[in-house]
Amino acid sequence: MIDIHSHILPKIDDGAETWEMSLAMARIAVEDGIKTMAATPHMLNGVYNVSRDQILTQVEELRRRLKEENIDLEIVAGADTHVTQDFMTHLNDGTLLTINDAGKYILVEFPQSILEQATYDMLFEIQLAGVIPVITHPERYFDIQRNYRIAYKWAESGNIIQVTAASLVGELGEAAQTSAMRLLKEGIVHVVASDAHSTEWRRPVMSSARRLVADVLSEDHAELIFLERPRCIVAGDYVEVPSPEDVKPSGKPSWYRKLQERWF
Ligand SMILES: [Fe+2]
Repeated sequence: MIDIHSHILPKIDDGAETWEMSLAMARIAVEDGIKTMAATPHMLNGVYNVSRDQILTQVEELRRRLKEENIDLEIVAGADTHVTQDFMTHLNDGTLLTINDAGKYILVEFPQSILEQATYDMLFEIQLAGVIPVITHPERYFDIQRNYRIAYKWAESGNIIQVTAASLVGELGEAAQTSAMRLLKEGIVHVVASDAHSTEWRRPVMSSARRLVADVLSEDHAELIFLERPRCIVAGDYVEVPSPEDVKPSGKPSWYRKLQERWF
């Protein structure tokens, strides 16, 4: 598996607290079957003053320490960028960090109180700048929990939807899980990531969520969501996502019925 969203870098945000914890998180990830992880500290969230240079330097340091400890986890750089008034200024002047610094995909987090139209405008502006937004954990927004159609429109307009592994398996509460399953059912969970913050709470673990996706959708879907699409995102390659309508054929596939029975 490839994990495109984690807070494994230490002492930079609310993720790992020490280098020891970063290494312990890396061991958990490897044990779980994760081969590559993007280190994506919060940027522009108004709490942590994190620069791209700081992230790139820490990524180098983490790589060095992983090698020293013989931990076979590839680390790429990135950032969990929060949408602010001056987001576009920062994106255009190159002070933000796209995934793997490839200039193609950027993790985007909206404020909890989403202004629906403002999100469409902002996402469009980011796309115009040549970068594809990867919208992090929409299932955890109250507005999406009330109305998944907003996320549907995000998916329809060419954005990538990233759901948190822990949400799918119920570790982040019932509302997040129900919402995640709804997005899965609608065919708009493009990628799953750990968004890991520590070795205890929100761990770098995705295999249980992968098993669930393989079970309710299919092994092929799980491969796309946990490996193939993340691989393209890290490489800066084109990610093919089906239009939401395509994954809801009129003769509903068995997984659609299964989800319907279990969840809705
Ligand atoms: Fe995050």
